[in-house]
Amino acid sequence: MGKVPRRQSLAVFPGSFDPITNGHLDIVARGLNVFDRVRLAILVNPDKKPLFSIDERAGLIRETYADNPRVEVDTFSGLLVDYAERVGATVIIRGIRAISDFEYEFQMALMNRRLNPSIETVFMMPAESYSYVSSRLVKEVFELGGRVSDLVPPAVERRLCEVYRSPDEDCGPDRGRAP
Ligand code: PNS
Repeated sequence: MGKVPRRQSLAVFPGSFDPITNGHLDIVARGLNVFDRVRLAILVNPDKKPLFSIDERAGLIRETYADNPRVEVDTFSGLLVDYAERVGATVIIRGIRAISDFEYEFQMALMNRRLNPSIETVFMMPAESYSYVSSRLVKEVFELGGRVSDLVPPAVERRLCEVYRSPDEDCGPDRGRAP
Protein backbone atom coordinates (compact mmCIF):
# COMPACT_ATOMS: atom_id res chain seq x y z
CA MET A 1 0.00 0.00 0.00
CA GLY A 2 1.28 3.49 -0.89
CA LYS A 3 2.00 6.00 1.82
CA VAL A 4 -0.82 8.41 2.59
CA PRO A 5 0.51 11.99 2.55
CA ARG A 6 0.19 13.47 6.02
CA ARG A 7 -0.77 17.06 6.79
CA GLN A 8 1.86 18.85 8.79
CA SER A 9 0.82 19.21 12.41
CA LEU A 10 0.85 22.68 13.91
CA ALA A 11 0.73 23.37 17.64
CA VAL A 12 0.17 26.81 19.10
CA PHE A 13 2.14 27.70 22.23
CA PRO A 14 0.38 30.80 23.62
CA GLY A 15 1.63 33.12 26.32
CA SER A 16 2.83 36.54 27.37
CA PHE A 17 6.54 35.74 26.84
CA ASP A 18 7.61 38.92 28.65
CA PRO A 19 10.33 37.83 28.05
CA ILE A 20 10.83 34.31 26.69
CA THR A 21 12.89 32.15 29.10
CA ASN A 22 14.83 28.91 28.81
CA GLY A 23 11.81 27.24 30.40
CA HIS A 24 9.75 28.26 27.35
CA LEU A 25 12.58 27.06 25.08
CA ASP A 26 12.49 23.70 26.82
CA ILE A 27 8.74 23.41 26.13
CA VAL A 28 9.20 24.42 22.48
CA ALA A 29 11.88 21.71 22.08
CA ARG A 30 9.53 19.12 23.58
CA GLY A 31 6.74 20.35 21.31
CA LEU A 32 8.97 19.89 18.26
CA ASN A 33 9.51 16.25 19.29
CA VAL A 34 5.79 15.68 18.83
CA PHE A 35 4.56 18.22 16.27
CA ASP A 36 5.96 19.35 12.92
CA ARG A 37 5.70 23.05 13.70
CA VAL A 38 5.31 25.06 16.89
CA ARG A 39 4.00 28.59 16.74
CA LEU A 40 4.55 30.86 19.71
CA ALA A 41 1.52 33.13 19.89
CA ILE A 42 1.94 36.24 22.02
CA LEU A 43 -1.25 37.59 23.54
CA VAL A 44 -1.90 41.27 22.89
CA ASN A 45 -3.23 42.20 26.31
CA PRO A 46 -4.03 45.90 26.85
CA ASP A 47 -4.73 45.22 30.57
CA LYS A 48 -1.17 44.14 31.34
CA LYS A 49 1.77 46.50 31.57
CA PRO A 50 4.60 44.46 30.03
CA LEU A 51 8.31 45.26 30.27
CA PHE A 52 8.82 44.59 26.57
CA SER A 53 6.46 45.73 23.83
CA ILE A 54 4.75 43.05 21.78
CA ASP A 55 7.09 43.78 18.84
CA GLU A 56 10.15 43.49 21.09
CA ARG A 57 8.93 40.19 22.52
CA ALA A 58 8.27 38.83 19.03
CA GLY A 59 11.68 40.09 17.88
CA LEU A 60 13.49 38.37 20.75
CA ILE A 61 11.76 35.08 19.95
CA ARG A 62 12.51 35.48 16.23
CA GLU A 63 16.17 36.13 16.98
CA THR A 64 16.32 33.09 19.28
CA TYR A 65 14.86 30.79 16.61
CA ALA A 66 16.40 32.43 13.54
CA ASP A 67 17.88 29.08 12.46
CA ASN A 68 14.84 26.94 13.06
CA PRO A 69 12.16 27.08 10.34
CA ARG A 70 9.89 24.79 12.38
CA VAL A 71 9.37 27.51 15.00
CA GLU A 72 7.12 30.46 14.16
CA VAL A 73 6.11 33.60 16.03
CA ASP A 74 2.84 35.50 15.88
CA THR A 75 0.64 37.74 18.01
CA PHE A 76 -3.04 37.37 18.69
CA SER A 77 -5.93 39.03 20.46
CA GLY A 78 -9.35 37.67 21.29
CA LEU A 79 -10.05 34.04 22.06
CA LEU A 80 -7.13 31.66 21.80
CA VAL A 81 -9.24 28.86 20.32
CA ASP A 82 -10.48 31.18 17.55
CA TYR A 83 -6.88 32.09 16.74
CA ALA A 84 -5.82 28.41 16.77
CA GLU A 85 -8.63 27.44 14.41
CA ARG A 86 -7.89 30.37 12.09
CA VAL A 87 -4.25 29.33 11.64
CA GLY A 88 -5.05 25.62 11.27
CA ALA A 89 -3.63 24.45 14.59
CA THR A 90 -5.19 21.42 16.25
CA VAL A 91 -3.25 21.60 19.48
CA ILE A 92 -2.53 24.14 22.20
CA ILE A 93 0.66 23.51 24.17
CA ARG A 94 1.04 24.72 27.73
CA GLY A 95 3.90 24.07 30.13
CA ILE A 96 3.21 22.90 33.67
CA ARG A 97 6.08 23.53 36.07
CA ALA A 98 4.46 22.47 39.31
CA ILE A 99 1.14 21.48 40.81
CA SER A 100 0.56 25.16 41.58
CA ASP A 101 0.28 25.82 37.82
CA PHE A 102 -2.20 23.05 37.38
CA GLU A 103 -5.44 24.51 38.66
CA TYR A 104 -5.38 27.59 36.41
CA GLU A 105 -4.18 25.57 33.43
CA PHE A 106 -6.85 22.92 34.00
CA GLN A 107 -9.57 25.59 34.09
CA MET A 108 -8.28 27.20 30.91
CA ALA A 109 -8.00 23.87 29.11
CA LEU A 110 -11.56 22.90 30.01
CA MET A 111 -12.92 26.31 29.04
CA ASN A 112 -11.07 26.16 25.73
CA ARG A 113 -12.44 22.67 25.13
CA ARG A 114 -15.96 23.91 25.80
CA LEU A 115 -15.40 26.77 23.36
CA ASN A 116 -13.94 24.53 20.67
CA PRO A 117 -13.88 20.76 21.26
CA SER A 118 -11.79 20.11 18.13
CA ILE A 119 -8.71 21.78 19.65
CA GLU A 120 -6.81 19.71 22.17
CA THR A 121 -4.66 21.14 24.97
CA VAL A 122 -1.44 19.24 25.61
CA PHE A 123 0.47 19.86 28.84
CA MET A 124 4.22 19.44 28.81
CA MET A 125 6.63 19.40 31.74
CA PRO A 126 9.90 21.28 31.45
CA ALA A 127 13.16 19.87 32.82
CA GLU A 128 13.25 20.08 36.63
CA SER A 129 16.01 22.66 36.34
CA TYR A 130 13.46 25.09 34.92
CA SER A 131 10.64 24.29 37.34
CA TYR A 132 11.19 27.54 39.25
CA VAL A 133 11.87 29.80 36.24
CA SER A 134 9.29 32.40 35.32
CA SER A 135 9.44 35.58 33.25
CA ARG A 136 8.43 37.57 36.33
CA LEU A 137 11.27 36.23 38.52
CA VAL A 138 13.83 36.59 35.73
CA LYS A 139 12.97 40.31 35.44
CA GLU A 140 13.07 40.79 39.20
CA VAL A 141 16.39 38.99 39.67
CA PHE A 142 18.04 40.85 36.80
CA GLU A 143 16.70 44.21 37.93
CA LEU A 144 18.17 43.61 41.39
CA GLY A 145 21.59 42.75 39.98
CA GLY A 146 21.39 38.93 39.85
CA ARG A 147 22.67 36.69 37.08
CA VAL A 148 20.16 35.18 34.65
CA SER A 149 22.46 33.92 31.89
CA ASP A 150 21.44 30.27 32.42
CA LEU A 151 17.78 31.16 32.52
CA VAL A 152 17.19 33.13 29.30
CA PRO A 153 18.48 33.03 25.73
CA PRO A 154 21.39 35.43 24.95
CA ALA A 155 19.19 37.89 23.01
CA VAL A 156 16.99 38.35 26.08
CA GLU A 157 19.90 38.81 28.46
CA ARG A 158 21.32 41.47 26.14
CA ARG A 159 17.99 43.30 26.00
CA LEU A 160 17.54 43.09 29.79
CA CYS A 161 21.00 44.59 30.16
CA GLU A 162 20.08 47.46 27.85
CA VAL A 163 16.89 48.15 29.81
CA TYR A 164 18.15 47.83 33.37
CA ARG A 165 21.88 48.58 33.39
CA SER A 166 23.60 51.95 33.18
CA PRO A 167 24.14 53.34 29.64
CA ASP A 168 27.93 52.85 29.80
CA GLU A 169 27.70 49.15 30.65
CA ASP A 170 28.69 46.75 27.87
CA CYS A 171 25.66 44.69 26.87
CA GLY A 172 27.39 43.02 23.91
CA PRO A 173 27.97 39.27 23.49
CA ASP A 174 31.31 39.40 25.38
CA ARG A 175 29.76 40.98 28.45
CA GLY A 176 30.99 39.44 31.69
CA ARG A 177 33.70 37.34 29.99
CA ALA A 178 37.24 37.37 31.33
CA PRO A 179 39.53 39.64 29.26
O1 PNS B 1 1.85 33.33 29.66
P1 PNS B 1 0.46 33.51 30.23
O2 PNS B 1 0.24 34.95 30.58
O3 PNS B 1 0.20 32.56 31.38
O4 PNS B 1 -0.58 33.13 29.04
C1 PNS B 1 -1.97 33.20 29.24
C2 PNS B 1 -2.72 32.98 27.91
C3 PNS B 1 -2.24 33.95 26.85
C4 PNS B 1 -2.51 31.57 27.42
C5 PNS B 1 -4.26 33.19 28.19
O5 PNS B 1 -4.43 34.39 28.89
C6 PNS B 1 -5.10 33.22 26.93
O6 PNS B 1 -5.21 32.24 26.23
N1 PNS B 1 -5.73 34.37 26.64
C7 PNS B 1 -6.52 34.57 25.44
C8 PNS B 1 -7.98 34.87 25.76
C9 PNS B 1 -8.77 33.60 25.88
O7 PNS B 1 -8.84 32.79 24.99
N2 PNS B 1 -9.39 33.43 27.07
C10 PNS B 1 -10.13 32.26 27.41
C11 PNS B 1 -9.19 31.15 27.82
S1 PNS B 1 -9.90 30.15 29.00
